This record gives sequence, structure tokens and C-alpha cells, in this order.
Amino acid sequence: MNNDPKKRIQALKKQLAEYSYEYHVLDAPTQSDAVYDGLMSELKRLEADHPELITADSPTQRVGNEISKGFKSVSHVSRMLSLNDVFSEEDVSAWIVRIQKLLPHAKSFSFYGDVKKDGLACSLIYQDGVFTQAVTRGDGFKGEDVTDNVRTIASVPLRLRHVEATKVLIPGRLEIRGEIVMYKKDFESLNAARKKSGLDLYANPRNTAAGTIRQLDSKLVAERKLHFLAYDILPENARDMSTHSHVYSLLSDLGFKGAEYGAQLKDSKAIQTFIHTWSKKRDSLPYEIDGLVIKVDQRDLYDAAGVVGKNPRAAVAYKFPAEQSTTIVKDIFVSIGRTGAATPVAILEPVRVAGSTVQMATLHNDSEIARKDIRIGDTVIIHKAGDIIPEVVAPMVSLRSGTEKVFHMPKQCPECETTLTKEKEGEAVWRCPNVRCPARSQKHIEHFASKGAIDIDGLGEKNVVALIEAGLIKDQADIYALTYEQVRELDRFADVSAQKLITAIQEKKNPPLERFIFGLGIRHVGTQTAIDLANTFHSLESLQKAPLEDIASVNGVGEVVAESILAWFSDTTNQELLNKFKKLHVTAQHAKKAEGPLSGLKFVITGTLTNMSRDIAADQIRNKGGVFQSSLGKDTDYLVVGENVGASKLKKAAEYGTKQIDEATLHKMIA
Ligand code: IVH
Repeated sequence: MNNDPKKRIQALKKQLAEYSYEYHVLDAPTQSDAVYDGLMSELKRLEADHPELITADSPTQRVGNEISKGFKSVSHVSRMLSLNDVFSEEDVSAWIVRIQKLLPHAKSFSFYGDVKKDGLACSLIYQDGVFTQAVTRGDGFKGEDVTDNVRTIASVPLRLRHVEATKVLIPGRLEIRGEIVMYKKDFESLNAARKKSGLDLYANPRNTAAGTIRQLDSKLVAERKLHFLAYDILPENARDMSTHSHVYSLLSDLGFKGAEYGAQLKDSKAIQTFIHTWSKKRDSLPYEIDGLVIKVDQRDLYDAAGVVGKNPRAAVAYKFPAEQSTTIVKDIFVSIGRTGAATPVAILEPVRVAGSTVQMATLHNDSEIARKDIRIGDTVIIHKAGDIIPEVVAPMVSLRSGTEKVFHMPKQCPECETTLTKEKEGEAVWRCPNVRCPARSQKHIEHFASKGAIDIDGLGEKNVVALIEAGLIKDQADIYALTYEQVRELDRFADVSAQKLITAIQEKKNPPLERFIFGLGIRHVGTQTAIDLANTFHSLESLQKAPLEDIASVNGVGEVVAESILAWFSDTTNQELLNKFKKLHVTAQHAKKAEGPLSGLKFVITGTLTNMSRDIAADQIRNKGGVFQSSLGKDTDYLVVGENVGASKLKKAAEYGTKQIDEATLHKMIA
């Protein structure tokens, strides 16, 4: 990466111009919009800091969009407007406050929400109920006449449906506005076919839909299955359409698709719920959406609020956080995990992706870095979806200045200088084999104290590091020997916080057995395995004494896991650790299983649940006395079927005769 702003600006402009050409001229973008936006915002930032470097050819200086040649240009009877974007729930609340101030005389009003279909806007004109013309948005005032192409779209009614509710609307000119989209599955099969024929792949459904409509050959358009999703009616004379809710119901009556998910929202709380629901459910739709549209439902108030620039005041587009952006790899360091795994981690120029700031991203291992050719100083594409861990997708090679450095995996552990090794030939992960490596101990202590394990309040990474550096703890058991005086001495603590920590530790001297087993950090023993082990052996001592066959026969535990457990208990360092716990009177307790309406029933969940996480569902099943299993067995009573379920699970359930229930039924059972 070049530190000279002039050179960096030049490089960014060149790259952005290339993307813009691919997108607007070739209709064949090679990058996502988010990547373009990421580079564009860096350019805007640099130009704001160095206004003397702004030139006429900068993409930041481009205003308006052009109309392509080849189609007849048509003036819109009424301007096709856009929407103001908002990016957070706070923005939405601020908008509601503004609207309320703007409409002080309105007695009461409500809102209307819909999914924001990610396609291209199009206006359809009907004359006495017959489809006569289709016009793209263009610059809002004038668009392109794409009638022949749009006529091929099966969901565009060629004649409006004449029913009781619509008969007054049909005479004369009627304009219907909506979005043309390509369904995700059609996009995927189109790309699969292109791949087979050795053709370039299309970037996303929206650009493909837009490119398709702007084809001059309508036969080609007909081959692509596009859809028209309506969202507005512009009648020639204002008819009885006092609310958007009513407009949506008329759209369905007229024979249009697109009104399925519209919902009346009575207040800001309903809007927030609408946002939460769709943030989770968006992937379940057949087409892509890039946000939600929220508007004032009452059309007279909507119109009274007016328009600023090209956006109505009484509506906003809530945009889902972008899942990609670009940033710079400032450095790469190696982090040593609990099991000794040495993982290269990229330190990034902080950047906002999918609603949070990303500053670091795991690069997995050195072969992965070499495969992607990620170098220190590179501008890279970052991907992060919701709560998923951020990932470096690829470097942007064209933005290299020549000063980037290739990363070399160190030969020794950066913490204890032990030579890194690989467990097996051909394995990708390097490990620090030193079980007493301070980095490994630190991670073990953090894991032990973490929420999923013993859950000691106030014992996060920073405090663990401080306690280790002060020489107060070396392993998990040492935590229990800490005194108030010792902790109080440290810079990070005051009277109250020191006392709080000591109390939190003492409260956890008899942790539940499954949490304790999980907290030990035995390789391959996750939460569920720990629960299965606790339910089978009832105490740490009997697990410690159990032979391999007994451990391996526990539901969900195989040979590999059993061997890892046995190896852990035979290690002398670990035996010392367990002795230390004993001396400090730390004893894990096996709680009797909760009795409840689900006592004795065994559950497995497959697929994604929409209203709760799998962990929460598992907890609730256990709270009601049920058993949560990690894999389907002959003894499983219920298979809870979520979304996106593979056929093999269902086949197995049918074979075993397991009862299949949906999420709503599970809800009722655990309510
Ligand atoms: S209402 C003033 N509803 O998003 C325009 N628009 O970024 C009022 N869009 O111009 C439009 N889905 O092309 C509305 N359910 C929906 C929409 C939607 C997609 C498009 C539309 C609009 C653009 C604004």
C-alpha cells in the first residue's frame, strides 16, 4: 500500500473507473457493490483531507446517471423518486421523531413496511386495463422504453384483473411501479450453465436482471425468468386509496405479485420488530432484498410531508449492513491457541462491516495465506456476515505499490520460542508443542472462566493477562487461590472491582460437572460432549477412571474423542492441576436432571431455527427435563426440522420412525 496520498488516489481512481466500466457499460461487474463502495469511501476520505488532489475525472465528481442508447427515451408522467437510506435502528427512530414534528396536526398515523427488493425499478403503464408500456427509472424524469422486454415477464399481467375492488381503477391510464428481479435459484442455474459453457459468471441477480432488461433482443429476455414485484399504484385521478395498506391489497387484486410481505406497523416498536424479523429471515426469500422500506401509511400525510431532492420525507430505506468492505492489512502476527495451534492473524485498518467494526481477521494458516497471496500492506476485501467471524476474501492486486511484504511463518513459538511442529505430515496447522507455553496457559484460563464454561464474571482476557503478568496465576486452579489483597494491588482494580472478582470466583467453587469438564479444555470436548459425559459418569473421578471402551460408547463420543480424553487424564501436568483443584476444595457437582413435561424424551435439531438459537433451544429442552442429543439415533424421540435441511437427515428419521416436528411445535412443547 502506498502512503503517498497522491499515488493512492490515482490507484483508487483507476480501479474504480475499471469497476464502473464493467458495471455500467459491460453490465458485467467483477466485484460486489460493497467492494466498490469500500474503495469509494476511502477515496472520498482522502480527497476530503487533500482537496487540492481532487480532479475532474474523479468518480466522486460524477453526478446523475446516464441513459443508454438503443432504447427510446420516455418522460415519466410523475418523477420516479428514490428513498433516503438509513443504516441503524437509531436512524429509524430519529426519522420517526422528524416525521412526528413535521406532521404536528396529524391526529394519529401508522406506518407500512415492506421488503426492499433488490432489482431495477420499472413503471408499467396500463390503458383501460391493457399493458401498453414499460419504462425504466432512468434519471427519474426520463427512462428507457423497455416494453417488449418487460412483456416477456410472466408475472406482468397483460390485462389487469377486473374484480369488484379494482373495477373503478381500470378505466383510463393506470401506472404501476415495482421492481424487476431475478430469483436466486434462476440466477444460480444460469451461472451454472454459463460455467459449463466456459462463459464468464455473472456477479449477482440484480445486475443480471438489469443487464437482461437492457438487452435489445427480447427473445433473450424471455429465456431468463425475470419477475416483476409491484409496490405502488399511480392512478390518473386520486381514487379511494387512503393508505399504502390498501394500495398493496389492490395490487394483489389487480393480479400483481410483490405485496406478500407488506405489513401495517402501528408504532416504532412494531417497526423494530419488523426489522429484527427480516434481518433474520431475509435469506429465506426467493429473491434478494437489500433492506426494508418503511413509510407513513396514510397517503395524504405521506404527500403532505413533501419531497427533498429526489426523496420523499415520509419514507426511508433501512439498509441491511453490508457484508463486505475493503481495508488494509497493517500487519500479520501469530496467535497461539489453547491447543497450541499457531494461527496467523491479520491486523487491519479498522473498518465497519455487517454492523460492527472489524480490526482483526484470522488467516487460518500459512498455506491459506500463500494460496490467497495476502501480503502485509495489501488492500484486501473483507467479508463478514452478521455474527460470523470476519474473513479476508482476497487481496486487490491492482492496488499494490510494490512495498507489500510477503508473510513468512515463524519457525518458533512467538511466546515461548519452542520450535513449532506439525502433528501429522501434510497437516496445515503448525503447533507449539510446549504444554506449559504461557500463551497456551493464558487461553486455557480464559476458556475456563468464559461464559460457556465456569462463567466467572470479570475474568475476561485483559484481567487474565494482568493476573498472569503479575505472577499471581499460572493455571485454572490458581484462580481459586487469589486473595482480595493480591488483586487490589493491580492497576486494573479498585476496592470494589477487586472484591467483586473474588466473590465471583468463590461463587463458582462447585460448578456444574458438565461446565467443569468443558472448562478443562480437553481437545474435541465441546459443550454437548461435556453434557453427555456428565450424564453418563456423574462425577469427575469416575470419568477419570473410565476405560476407553466406556467413554467411546457414550452417545456422540467416538474413538478419537475418547482417546483425546484418555490422553488428557494421563498427562501428569493435568493430574497436578486436578489435585490442585481438590486442595482448594473446588468440586464439580452433577445436578440431577430437571424433571418436567419432557422428562425422558430425546430431541435432535436439524437445520436453522428462525426464532431462537440452537443453544437456547437445547437449554430449554433440558430445563423441561428433556435430553438434547447432538446426532440422530434410534432412541431419538423427536427430530425438530428447521430451515434448509438436508435430505439425508430426514431420510434417516423416516428410517428410524422418529417423529418430525417443526419449530412452532417445539415452541409449544417448551413454552
Ligand atoms: S417504495 C419513492 N417499496 O428501492 C419511492 N420501493 O431505493 C418509493 N424498491 O425507488 C418506493 N422495493 O425502486 C418501495 N417495497 C418497495 C421497494 C422499493 C424496492 C426500490 C424502488 C425505490 C428504491 C429506493
